[in-house]
Amino acid sequence: MDLSYAEPYRIKTVRRINKSSRKEREAWIREAKFNLFNLRSDQVFIDLLTDSGTGAMSDEQWGRFMQGDESYAGSDSYYELKNAVKRLLGFDRFLPTHQGRAAEDVLFSTVLKEGDLVPGNKHFDTTKGHIEYRKAKAIDCTIDESKKPTSDHPFKGNIDLCKLREVFEENPIENIPVVMLTITCNSVGGQPVSMKNISETANLCDTYGVPLFFDAARFAENAYFIKTREKRYKATSIRDIVKEMFSHVSGFTMSAKKDGIVNIGGVLGLRSKDLFDKAKVHNIMKEGYVTYGGMAGRDMAALAQGLKESTEFDYLDSRIKQIQHFGSKLQEYGVPVLTPFGGHAIFVDAKHTLPNVSQEEFVAQLLAVELYLEAGVRGVEIGTLLADRDPDTGQNRYPQLEMLRLAVPRRTYTNNHLDYAAVGLGNVYQRREEYTRGLRIVKQAPILRHFTVELERID
Ligand code: F0G
Repeated sequence: MDLSYAEPYRIKTVRRINKSSRKEREAWIREAKFNLFNLRSDQVFIDLLTDSGTGAMSDEQWGRFMQGDESYAGSDSYYELKNAVKRLLGFDRFLPTHQGRAAEDVLFSTVLKEGDLVPGNKHFDTTKGHIEYRKAKAIDCTIDESKKPTSDHPFKGNIDLCKLREVFEENPIENIPVVMLTITCNSVGGQPVSMKNISETANLCDTYGVPLFFDAARFAENAYFIKTREKRYKATSIRDIVKEMFSHVSGFTMSAKKDGIVNIGGVLGLRSKDLFDKAKVHNIMKEGYVTYGGMAGRDMAALAQGLKESTEFDYLDSRIKQIQHFGSKLQEYGVPVLTPFGGHAIFVDAKHTLPNVSQEEFVAQLLAVELYLEAGVRGVEIGTLLADRDPDTGQNRYPQLEMLRLAVPRRTYTNNHLDYAAVGLGNVYQRREEYTRGLRIVKQAPILRHFTVELERID
C-alpha cells in the first residue's frame, strides 16, 4: 500500500470556534447587509474567506517573533529577512511593506504614469485597483484555457505570448513600464504558471526591453505545481525551482500573508539599484524607513522563517493534497468546481450550482450567503461584485466565470472541517432548483466595492 500524505507537523495550540444555529445566522447575515466581510469572526464556524494572513505560525516562527529586534534602523530582524530573501529568492535588494498591496503601491508610485499599460496574466483586484487608480490600464493576457472551468490544462495561469506580443507591438513601448506575472494566478482560480512560460515571457519582455515582475504571493505553491506537473523538474528541489523562477524577473511584489505564512507583511524586491533608490523614497513616505518599511522587527523575523518553511516539499505536498481532498469531496456531491483544483482554494462555478439565478442578481454572492446560512462556512464571491464597474462607462463588468472561492488557510483546519464545509455546499446544491432570485445592491463604494457593498434579497 502507498503511505498517504500526512502533515509534517503536529498541533500544539488550538483556538475555539463557535457553531451557531441557522436562525442566528439569518439575523447576522441580514445585519451584515448580505456582505460576508461584515460578519464578526465569532459568527463564522469555518472561515474560508481567505488564505491571507490566516495561517498558523510554527513554534519556530513564534520563537523568532520573541527575538525580533525592534530597532528603528538596521535591525537584526531586517538582516535576517534580507538573508532569507537573498538565499531563497536570489534578490539582493528589497523593501519591507505592511502587506502586498503596499508593495504594489510603492512599485506603481515609482514606475507608473497616467495612460500606461500593465499587461500580465489576470491581475489580482488590488493590483488592478492600483493601476486603474492611476488612470492606467491592466491588460489580461492569460491563455484562453483559463476561462474554461473544466479544461485540464496543467498551467491555466500561463500568459498567452501572442497576446502579450500584440500589446508590445500595438502600443508605444515607453507606455509599458512593467509586465506583471501573478504566481499562482488567484483571479483565474489559483492556477499555476509553468517554468517554460515564465522563461518564454521573460525572453519576450527582454526582446522589447520591458521588465518582468512577479506578483509572488503564492510563489511556493506555484513551485510545487512546476515540480509535480512539468516533467523536467520532477527531480529538482522546491528551493532550486524557486530560485530558477525568480532568476527570470527584474522584481516582485509579495504579499507575505500567503506563502510567507505570517499574519501581516509584504515585500517589494528589485534588482535595479536605480529603481530601488527611487522606490525607497516612496517606501519611506508611505510605509516606513528602509530597514522596516511597514513591518515590525518581529514580523520580519517570523517571515524569514516562514519563507523557509513554505519552501519545504513535505509541507507543500500536504497543503496541496488537502485542497485536492476538499475538491474531490465537493465533486462527490456533484458540486461543479473548477479543475484542476487551485493551489490555495477551491473555486465553485456558481452559475452551474444555482442555474436559475442570473448573473445580474449576483449568483456567486447568493451562493456564498446560502453556504453561510446552511453551515456557518464563509467563502468569498469572485464574480460580478468583485469585477466591479468599468471605470470608463460605470457599467457592471460581467466576468465569464462567476465563482465562489473557498480558500483554505495554511496549517489551520483539518480534513474534517473541510468535509463539513463540503456537505454544507452539497446540501445547497441539492436544493438548487428552489433558488430563482438573487440579490440587489443598495449601497456601493466608487472602487473595490466588494469589501463594503450593502445588498438585499430580491423576493
Ligand atoms: N496579489 C495577489 C495574487 C493576492 O492574492 C493578494 C491578496 C494581493 C496581491 C494583495 O496582498 O492582501 O497582502 O495586500 N489576496 C487576498 C486574497 C486578499 O484573499 O486572495 P495583500
